[in-house]
Amino acid sequence: MNAYIIEGGRPLYGTARVHGAKNSVLPILAATVLCQGTSVIHNCPDLSDVRASLAILEHLGCKVARAGDTITVDASVVTGNDVPDRLMREMRSSVIFLGAILARTGAAELSMPGGCELGPRPIDLHLSAIRALGAEIREEGGALHCSIPGGRLQGCEYALALPSVGATENAMLCACGAEGTTVITNAAREPEIVDLQTFLRAAGADVRGAGSSVVTVRGVGGLHGGEHTVLPDRIVAATLLSAAASAGGEVELLDTDYRQLSTVTAVLAEAGCRVRSGPDRVTLRRDQPLKGVRPIRTAPYPGFPTDAQPPVMAALAKGTGTTVFVENMFESRYRHVDELCRMGADIRVEGRVAVVCGVERLHGAGLRAADLRGGAALVVAALGAEGRSELTGLDHIDRGYQELEATLRSLGADITRTGGPLQNL
Ligand code: UD1
Repeated sequence: MNAYIIEGGRPLYGTARVHGAKNSVLPILAATVLCQGTSVIHNCPDLSDVRASLAILEHLGCKVARAGDTITVDASVVTGNDVPDRLMREMRSSVIFLGAILARTGAAELSMPGGCELGPRPIDLHLSAIRALGAEIREEGGALHCSIPGGRLQGCEYALALPSVGATENAMLCACGAEGTTVITNAAREPEIVDLQTFLRAAGADVRGAGSSVVTVRGVGGLHGGEHTVLPDRIVAATLLSAAASAGGEVELLDTDYRQLSTVTAVLAEAGCRVRSGPDRVTLRRDQPLKGVRPIRTAPYPGFPTDAQPPVMAALAKGTGTTVFVENMFESRYRHVDELCRMGADIRVEGRVAVVCGVERLHGAGLRAADLRGGAALVVAALGAEGRSELTGLDHIDRGYQELEATLRSLGADITRTGGPLQNL
């Protein structure tokens, strides 16, 4: 079984690069399906979710190649229009392929993604946006059958009930294949949506407004494909900063955009870390115990990211004072708390609120990751804890962090991985 063995209590020093963003690369790979040519995507991390996306592209008939962190997708010929159940289960975000497959082939067959480790993950907003563009979607026995009765998707004005990241992206992809103009309002404003827009424009699409709450897409027929470099992963950056805050020391992160991290760095600075930011880097120094901070409420971008809540909580579990977390995005996003408590943390959860009373020390323990960011949080806590931790459930962490152990080791952490590297699908 794969496990991390972590001897905690060593401060981290040095410089690390942040890899490309998982949440950018997945929709961009889905977008390549719209292109009747070749797309070249740089700065793609090697993650199990990325491998699952490549498996979907191959299943659809695309030719896919990877050289280092560059992925080439030739979607000149698309022969399939379904995502097999196995790959839907492998990665819940496979639903992001729906809009692109439908726009490219006129039909799509997917199984319902179902719940995930964060609780129910509905896709009603994805489906209603795609229906608004003229698709018919039948939900039958856990499967989605999608077609376009009118022959062509039609541009429309669509207001999202919630600024869902995935639904905004799905609607953008589908709208690229529609006739006329689509205006998506109450769109999510995450940087990864801007990155998707940048790729789509390079591939020949006419998309404007990403990063604001109104995204406008003018259908231009087929896209030709494009070249793009994926933006750095702000959640990986937040995790590494939390690791330095937990273990102490001084860490400089390169290839990171401080503007996208400001809510996280503001919290860590309030907790007593010294944070310095340059255009493409962030440095964090922690030489005093962390202090409790004002309540942290997760919210859509530019609010505090729900994905950074677990690692930041893990850092604040050790220190002085109390911090209240309010998780507004997902129901089951405190699954790391019981494990943190097993390390000596004092955290109480009631509904969407968690109250973290800083303790003087955490101790190593046998731990299990229950989800991606919760798993990363346990690594953060173990690095600052006294003694040895053994963490299993690395398949969750492999979905979003490329060789996390190697990055942390380069900063002086005592962390080893047993049981071999990321497995092929
Ligand atoms: C994306 C990110 C994920 C991040 C999340 C919130 C990817 C691959 N994943 O997930 O890491 O935690 O944004 O920043 O980019 N909702 C509905 N109906 C829908 C869709 C969403 O009710 O059809 C709700 C969800 O239950 C949730 C909220 O909307 O409460 C936000 O979810 P959403 O922004 O869609 O998250 P994802 O795109 O799934």
